Amino acid sequence: MAQDKTLDDLFLDTLKDIYYAEKQILKTLPKMAKAAQSPQLKAGFEQHQDETETHVERLEQVFEMLGKPARGKTCDAILGIIEEGKSIMEEFKGTSALDAGLVSAAQAVEHYEMARYGTLRTWAQQLGMNDAAKLLAQTLSEEEATDKKLSGLATAEVNKKAA
Ligand SMILES: [Fe+2]
Ligand SMILES: [Fe+2]
Repeated sequence: MAQDKTLDDLFLDTLKDIYYAEKQILKTLPKMAKAAQSPQLKAGFEQHQDETETHVERLEQVFEMLGKPARGKTCDAILGIIEEGKSIMEEFKGTSALDAGLVSAAQAVEHYEMARYGTLRTWAQQLGMNDAAKLLAQTLSEEEATDKKLSGLATAEVNKKAA
């Protein structure tokens, strides 16, 4: 019979998933900042790069609370989302629609992160890991703020330019 698995196992597994994803995002954001035409969008990507470094550090703190080594586990979802972003950068290079495409790609990343951090925060609460829940909630609110900022940039500027 298969060994029983519980919420602790799911929590650790999902922590490894988002740790891997954040590290991939760290490698991708500079490319998106470089590609962005709008100075505000560029600055937004650069700011989120700094925040993402903090997200990685917070995850490392959560691993430490669990007494586990910080280790990622390949996340096919984020690889797919990043791959789609790369296609947009290539296919819309030099066009007026590029920035709108970059925003849409970035929002797909943020929504993936929001889904993961929302789940992890709730699981941490259920498991009585209140300090971990606080760290995860902090990151969640930064992902949400980034998503909102991207929506604002899209409607204020980027979509009009692309239309
Ligand atoms: Fe993040
Ligand atoms: Fe993010």
